[in-house]
Amino acid sequence: MDKLVYVLRSLPETGRFAAWAVGFLLLTLLVPRVAGATGDVERGKNLFALAGGCGCHTSQDGPVGAGGGEAPTPFGTFYGTNITPDEETGIGSWSDEEIEAAIRRGENRDGVETPAMPYYWYSGMSDEDLADLIAYLRSLQPVHRPNRPHEGEVPLERWAYRFWRWWFAPRFEPARQSPAGGMERGRYLADHVSICGDCHTPRSRFGAPLLSMHHAGTKNGPGDKSVPNITPDATGIAEWDSADLLNLLRTGFTPEFDNVQGYMADVIEGHGGGPGYRDAREEDLRDIAEYLKTIRPIEHEVD
Ligand code: HEC
Repeated sequence: MDKLVYVLRSLPETGRFAAWAVGFLLLTLLVPRVAGATGDVERGKNLFALAGGCGCHTSQDGPVGAGGGEAPTPFGTFYGTNITPDEETGIGSWSDEEIEAAIRRGENRDGVETPAMPYYWYSGMSDEDLADLIAYLRSLQPVHRPNRPHEGEVPLERWAYRFWRWWFAPRFEPARQSPAGGMERGRYLADHVSICGDCHTPRSRFGAPLLSMHHAGTKNGPGDKSVPNITPDATGIAEWDSADLLNLLRTGFTPEFDNVQGYMADVIEGHGGGPGYRDAREEDLRDIAEYLKTIRPIEHEVD
């Protein structure tokens, strides 16, 4: 620093002014970027919990994020990839921009990702939340575990995924800011972080979510299992109030004191010892519960 000041002093007046001006300009250009890119690990952990523990990326017995969770699709079973910061088999060597592209745009180093990765729902996530989530992923224990290739044939795989994204994937604009609370936050979290509709919304035979039937349930959900209608219709959960919904997200119990099973239990409990819905901030879960009571009731009987 002393040396810098000395150099600046020795410059003629105008040169000195120019040097300070350039320095100042560089600072103003750099500071917002650095600040924008560093996420908060604790907030990121809450988002990871709200995302149901990004379940596919953790196998039943963990470790968290090391890959191996199953995503059954009509085109065979896909296995979630390693998202721990391992340099070789995980995302340790990826830049923040690369992780962002994978989560929000479905792009990785090999091209476009399989639609089994619900990037199109996450495409509505705000920059701020994404930065927090990335900070959390980078804080996970690195695990050296190569990704498991998927089982089943996808004709013209690379092109098929690219085409699918272009033709079928719903498009959402990233939120400019994460809503701080209330219905707007409930909608944002339900649609773009907790992605309730990924399972609760029926799909066309090409696997594209039918947004006109958002949250109306389906007989052919993941693993070809049925997923209930969660709109406030008599064929859905009209009888539940938002406290019942909140209770379900926190404990896995329905108002009839039944335990939900399968995929719903997985997102509530988290995977491999990691956080799930039940570990998220209560205010956030309440916003989701209250929001879901306000969505359009859709008549759709799912057994
Ligand atoms: C990974 C898939 C998946 C995701 C994501 C998911 N659910 Fe579910 N959900 C299910 C399945 C499957 C069931 C049926 C569970 C059972 O039968 O035991 C279910 C059951 C429910 C029920 C019980 C309905 C009833 O009539 O018994 C409610 C309410 C519910 N989910 C709400 C939500 C909300 C709210 C979210 C988002 C915050 C969400 N779900 C995200 C798969 C999912």
